[in-house]
Parts: sequence; structure tokens; C-alpha cells
Amino acid sequence: MTGRRIAVLKGGRSFERQVSLVSGGRVEDALARAGHDVTGIDVGADLVDRLRAADPEVVFVALHGRDGEDGTVQELLEALGLAYTGPRPAACALSSDKVLAKHLMQDAGIPTPDFLAFGESTFKDLGASGALPQIGDRLHFPVVVKPARGGSALGVRFAATPEEVPGALIAALSYDDRVLVERFVRGRELAVSILGGEALPVVEAIPSAEDFYDFEARYTIGRTRFVCPAGLDHGVAAEAQRLALRVVDLLGLQSCARVDLLLDADGALWVLEANAIPGMTETSLLPQAADAAGLDFDDLITRMLADARDPRSR
Ligand SMILES: Nc1ncnc2c1ncn2[C@@H]1O[C@H](COP(=O)(O)OP(=O)(O)O)[C@@H](O)[C@H]1O
Ligand SMILES: [Mg+2]
Repeated sequence: MTGRRIAVLKGGRSFERQVSLVSGGRVEDALARAGHDVTGIDVGADLVDRLRAADPEVVFVALHGRDGEDGTVQELLEALGLAYTGPRPAACALSSDKVLAKHLMQDAGIPTPDFLAFGESTFKDLGASGALPQIGDRLHFPVVVKPARGGSALGVRFAATPEEVPGALIAALSYDDRVLVERFVRGRELAVSILGGEALPVVEAIPSAEDFYDFEARYTIGRTRFVCPAGLDHGVAAEAQRLALRVVDLLGLQSCARVDLLLDADGALWVLEANAIPGMTETSLLPQAADAAGLDFDDLITRMLADARDPRSR
């Protein structure tokens, strides 16, 4: 294939800006190695001007979090009539909102830890703090408190007792105006990446010290050990892949996604969330899963590029 003009969107103003800059940089290098004419764009207020100047044939979206993963940038690219990689706007909007995605999963019978959702205004205007005792009755402690929209474990806190809930809620509310309180599942941390409608081998993330796979552990080489394919019974691995495929069908993420799951001590699998724009850093799980399936990083990028769709052709 001859080289094409490609713009790589990265950075932006989300909390995951730094991760995205690394993802985008690696994508740019891979595209340049494949002979493409690459323009990296750190997304800001001049995005449209910079896209016009670059005049790309395809836009590679390597933005995480707000704007990049929630459908905002995809809507803009649709409006500009530009072909882009990754899922379409509705799938991005649905999957980036954990509350919406979990309601849909529950309704579809996909196992996801039970949860309660609260909006900031429900505390201020509706006296929702009076509903907090319900948390213990319904979910039992410990619970996990997290922002509805967010990533990389930012704003995710554990609350072992009712007294710890308000502090955890305030922390989560600093990332988003809606939060969820979720049943805690003690278990092994698994991820299934999807590429072109197919599930890649399961990755297990094993934190080396703390029992929580947090932001630092995710991006510091050596802090977490990754095993891919994960050491699982064949039936469990196949079930994790089957669940991940159901999730991407439900949310519209068939082109590319990473589904995060937990495997509890009883052998039950629980879906935590689906990510529309998975990380592409050196410690990220999609590249590791692709590698285990025989696709090196450059092959992976070529595949993602080939899947990019042109809004004008729909
Ligand atoms: N219900 C839960 N039980 C146990 N651990 C959890 C739970 N929810 C989240 N975690 C931990 O927090 C991490 C981040 O949570 P996740 O829902 O995947 O959000 P993020 O979008 O930040 O990745 C998980 O990888 C897991 O380690
Ligand atoms: Mg996650």
C-alpha cells in the first residue's frame, strides 16, 4: 500500500492527556515506519484549523478520556466528513459512561457488579445523602466508588465502611458530576481486547505490591506483571472472550475495544467496563493481546487503519 496522509489525534484536555500523548507518539512512529505521511495533532481549540491544514485521508484517534473517548471528537470528524479509526459516536458515548453502560449490561443479562448511581445535584437538591445507608443494605461493604466517566482508575476509591463513603464520593465527584457506588469484587484482573469483531487472547494484570491496579501501576513498567495469554482454564478464557463479544455487540464497539473484567474466587466473571479507545502505550493491554495473537505493534496499527471508515461512504 502506498503512503497516505494521516493525522494522529492525541493529548487533549482530559485527565488521561499524558497517557494519550504516549499512545499517539507510538502510533505516529508506527505509521511513519509503514511509509505514511504523518501529522501529530495535540488536540486543542485549533483542532479544526489544524485538520484543514493537514488535509488527512484518515484520522487516527489516539485520544483517551473526555472528548476523545466520549464521542465528541468522533462527532466533529463526522461533521468534517473525515474517515477515522475506532468506534462511532454513539458507541463512544455509551461506553464512556459507566452508569449507562452498566444499566444496558444489566438489562441484557451480562454480569456486571451491582451498583447505585448518584448525580452531584441529587446530593445538593434532592438530599441524596439520606439514601446512603441503602448502600450497605443493597451492596454490602466494601464498595467501590468511581466517576461515571473517567479512566485509568482515576477517581476510583474503595470504601470499607459507611464512614468512608462521603470522602470517596467527593473524590469521585471531582472527576465527574455523576458517580457510581459498586459492589466490590475480589478477584483476578482480566482484559479482553477486540479487534475487527474478534476477541484477542485474554490478558491478566497482576499488580506486584498493592492489591489495586491504580494509575501509577498501570503506566510504570515493572509495577504490574502482565500475563498473556492469561493462565486460565480454557473454559474460563473462552467465557471471558464470549462475554467481551456480547459487550461490544451491545455497545457497538466491534471495530476495536478493550473490555475489563474481574474473575472472582468462585470462578464467576464480572464485566467492569468497556473502553472505546484502548491505551497504546508500552504497558497497555491491547498491544500485548495483539502480540500474543501474532500481530506486532506495526501490524496492529495497520489493521486499525484499514478498519477506518469514511463517513461519506455510509
Ligand atoms: N467493583 C470492583 N471490585 C473490585 N475492584 C474494582 C471494582 N471496580 C473497579 N475496581 C478496580 O479499579 C480499577 C479501575 O476500574 P474501572 O471500572 O475499570 O475504571 P477505569 O475506567 O478507571 O479503568 C479496576 O481495574 C480494578 O482494579
Ligand atoms: Mg478499566
